[in-house]
Amino acid sequence: MKPVISILMVCALAAGQQKTYKPKEEKLPGAPVKQPIAYSHKTHIAAGLTCTGCHTMPGDGFAATYPKEAFCMGCHQSIKTDSAEIQKLAQFSKDKKSVPWVKVYQLPDIVWFNHALHVKDAKIGCGECHGDVAQRDVLFQEKSAMMNSCMDCHAKRSAPNGCDTCHATQ
Ligand code: HEC
Ligand code: HEC
Ligand code: HEC
Ligand code: HEC
Ligand code: HEC
Repeated sequence: MKPVISILMVCALAAGQQKTYKPKEEKLPGAPVKQPIAYSHKTHIAAGLTCTGCHTMPGDGFAATYPKEAFCMGCHQSIKTDSAEIQKLAQFSKDKKSVPWVKVYQLPDIVWFNHALHVKDAKIGCGECHGDVAQRDVLFQEKSAMMNSCMDCHAKRSAPNGCDTCHATQ
């Protein structure tokens, strides 16, 4: 009876909204996401930068994170300083403000997801979950972030798949 108990508990957690899991609509590929600065992955990967050089997964490794503006300015102090996009970047850096990057992939708060566990421990490449980022000037959602896509891979890779793996049940 144990699995039944945890299913009820997850439903209780999502209380008020849904009694059972109903997949939301997910259109793939998603529309290109407009960002506050016209940053291109393609250009920067071609310049020799690496994924984890910018997305460092510090501490407990939950978030991939975005690089600090000062890091970008390490190059853009001198590269393309006449560009309007770089001037926006320089202003954020000067004001010690983070660029408000718009998220492309977004899980609801009730899901427990840790990047380092997948990338460092399980050695899963970024592309399995994010597509061919190195070839993109503008990002869009390429891969599913729905529950069934998590669970399909977990089943294939013999990773745990109980409800409380990805949802807190207390
Ligand atoms: C197993 C699937 C998976 C893998 C592998 C993966 N990601 Fe993610 N990534 C996600 C999901 C899911 C989200 C949304 C997380 C959220 O909203 O809490 C995300 C979010 C992000 C974000 C937004 C910031 C953040 O931390 O939420 C960045 C940046 C990112 N991933 C970069 C990377 C990079 C770089 C790699 C490879 C080094 C990578 N990801 C590997 C699934 C994955
Ligand atoms: C290793 C050096 C380096 C770093 C670090 C770097 N860039 Fe760049 N960036 C470049 C190069 C090289 C170009 C291409 C310049 C060209 O077109 O001649 C470029 C181009 C750009 C452009 C296009 C400018 C234009 O108008 O053509 C933007 C915007 C940009 N970078 C933003 C960023 C942001 C945001 C970061 C941090 C997340 C960053 N860069 C980090 C080297 C770097
Ligand atoms: C120079 C720093 C830099 C490098 C190198 C870099 N990224 Fe990013 N990444 C960014 C910035 C800035 C954003 C936010 C703007 C955007 O979405 O294009 C971002 C956004 C993302 C996102 C969208 C996250 C979300 O949900 O909002 C993913 C996924 C991602 N990067 C994956 C990668 C992968 C995979 C690589 C290596 C192939 C990589 N990045 C290399 C700076 C970098
Ligand atoms: C491409 C395959 C793959 C995808 C997609 C994937 N995972 Fe995983 N996940 C794994 C593997 C393999 C492990 C086992 C990692 C380890 O312990 O080395 C794991 C482990 C986990 C764990 C820790 C399990 C535990 O208790 O040890 C959680 C939580 C998790 N994943 C959540 C998610 C969520 C949420 C998603 C979807 C947004 C997702 N995963 C998508 C392969 C995947
Ligand atoms: C491997 C990770 C994983 C496992 C295992 C998992 N889920 Fe999920 N669950 C997710 C992700 C990711 C989402 C958000 C995306 C979506 O709605 O598909 C989600 C969303 C949900 C939602 C919708 C919450 C909301 O309000 O948006 C419910 C309800 C839910 N899960 C119940 C369950 C139940 C019940 C089980 C056990 C049978 C379970 N989950 C097992 C990853 C997981």
